[in-house]
Amino acid sequence: MTRVRRQTGPGPLFGTPPGLTLLQGFALPAEDALLAGIEQVVQAAPFRHMITPGGFAMSVALTNCGALGWVSDRRGYRYQPNDPETGRLWPAMPAAFLDLAQRAAAAGGFPGFTPDACLINRYTPGARLTLHQDKNERDFSAPIVSVSLGLPATFLFGGLERTDPQDRVALHHGDVVVWGGPTRLAYHGILPLKEGDHPRLGPCRINMTFRLAS
Ligand code: SIN
Ligand code: FE2
Repeated sequence: MTRVRRQTGPGPLFGTPPGLTLLQGFALPAEDALLAGIEQVVQAAPFRHMITPGGFAMSVALTNCGALGWVSDRRGYRYQPNDPETGRLWPAMPAAFLDLAQRAAAAGGFPGFTPDACLINRYTPGARLTLHQDKNERDFSAPIVSVSLGLPATFLFGGLERTDPQDRVALHHGDVVVWGGPTRLAYHGILPLKEGDHPRLGPCRINMTFRLAS
């Protein structure tokens, strides 16, 4: 299942860097359940552009499901049990989400992963996620499981220092990446999304990131 897609010809090398497991197409059998689950979550907690501590609206729109949701505002980044827009708890994590995240984590070398947070990011063309570490979680022994749906994107995966060189990984509809252990705090990001029209999702990419936050 873990194959490496390499770009031919000149330009940056696309491959799978050490410390990252790329599970190509791993989420495809669960596609319908995932899309239905996203629909359900978004009805209760719509996508919104959160404000960074620096005062800028994020280009990525997001929502959450699970016991804890990742939020950003002028006060900083954190996890909280309720949606700041409504005050209500985040919607429960659909069973199909949890099942996929657990199987992917095990395939990536992290058996026994039980995420309590699922951040759902929506990218439209031009949206990007600048280089960052996932470090708002309490316990760094659990991995990160990240599921890509819709338009393809270029994932940057670097080292433990912001200035370390980054590998580029092409992520397509249904791909899942898993990282943790020595690379749990690796800097990573998403290059600006290219224009396109995905047969199932239209002009967008949705990413689901599963984490143990508490
Ligand atoms: C993230 O770093 O939280 C999301 C990465 C992605 O969209 O693939
Ligand atoms: Fe991240």
